[in-house]
Amino acid sequence: MPQQTSQEARTVRHDAVISLSSATATLGSRPVLRGVDLAVRRGEVVALLGANGSGKSTAVRSVIGQVPLTGGSVELFGTPLKQFRQWARVGYVPQRTTAAGGVPATVREVVSSGRLSRSRLGLLSSKTDKAAVDRAIGLVGLADRAKDSVSALSGGQHQRVLIARALASEPELLIMDEPMAGVDLASQEILAGTLRRQVAAGVSVLLVLHELGPLEPLIDRTVVLRDGLVVHDGPPTAGALPGHDDHHLTKEDCHPDAAGAASPLPTGLLS
Ligand SMILES: Nc1ncnc2c1ncn2[C@@H]1O[C@H](COP(=O)(O)OP(=O)(O)OP(=O)(O)O)[C@@H](O)[C@H]1O
Ligand SMILES: [Mg+2]
Repeated sequence: MPQQTSQEARTVRHDAVISLSSATATLGSRPVLRGVDLAVRRGEVVALLGANGSGKSTAVRSVIGQVPLTGGSVELFGTPLKQFRQWARVGYVPQRTTAAGGVPATVREVVSSGRLSRSRLGLLSSKTDKAAVDRAIGLVGLADRAKDSVSALSGGQHQRVLIARALASEPELLIMDEPMAGVDLASQEILAGTLRRQVAAGVSVLLVLHELGPLEPLIDRTVVLRDGLVVHDGPPTAGALPGHDDHHLTKEDCHPDAAGAASPLPTGLLS
């Protein structure tokens, strides 16, 4: 039987790998998600956009069970979150909140921790594990820093270590919360190339972004949150113009600094 190409895999297998339905969540006393529907189908690359505080991180953290829902449901690979155990299938890059430091671990150790969900007894002994860790470190361009302490890295390099950690388990689904934040343009291009190869191999991706940037050609669909509600869900081009659909996106939806700031939507879409 002829092998299925990645393009066929992306167009034919349309089952959802993430399904967030009518999700509500409250942090403190504040309703942060107010009925969010978000689906990522197998092979799809979905960008989640919205202004600061619109609920993007809360939405992705609810998908992996870090924020409990007060209503609605989450399924991963068709399994309700409560029953889901196959965490090696999911790579997660949290939003970076602090610079590197604190934990005296090397790049290799941090990236290896991403492999633990795949290893028996939590031991990283096999050649396969070590090769996967090396490959992940190489993918983000840090092979020459593998033995360095993460505390000796710059913020952008630290971010690349977190991405390598997510790649180390060779996940089928990557969830990345602002992976490009603090990463310079040259490194963004390296990461975009890495992600392109992952997507070509059939990996599904949910990305929180402020700007599509070098990832723009990879994005199949954008979902825009405003105050914990979805105000746009569609292709990154058609339908996203203010006044073009019934959602009336504003620059504030797409960038925290509003007017004059770079837009996360393709150039020319926002007036
Ligand atoms: N632990 C918390 N306790 C109380 N409120 C919180 C907590 N974490 C987040 N919030 C609030 O929830 C809202 C949504 O936060 P969230 O981090 O999901 O936004 P975001 O869209 O990811 O923003 P950003 O672009 O700044 O990362 C914000 O108003 C925030 O202040
Ligand atoms: Mg966030």
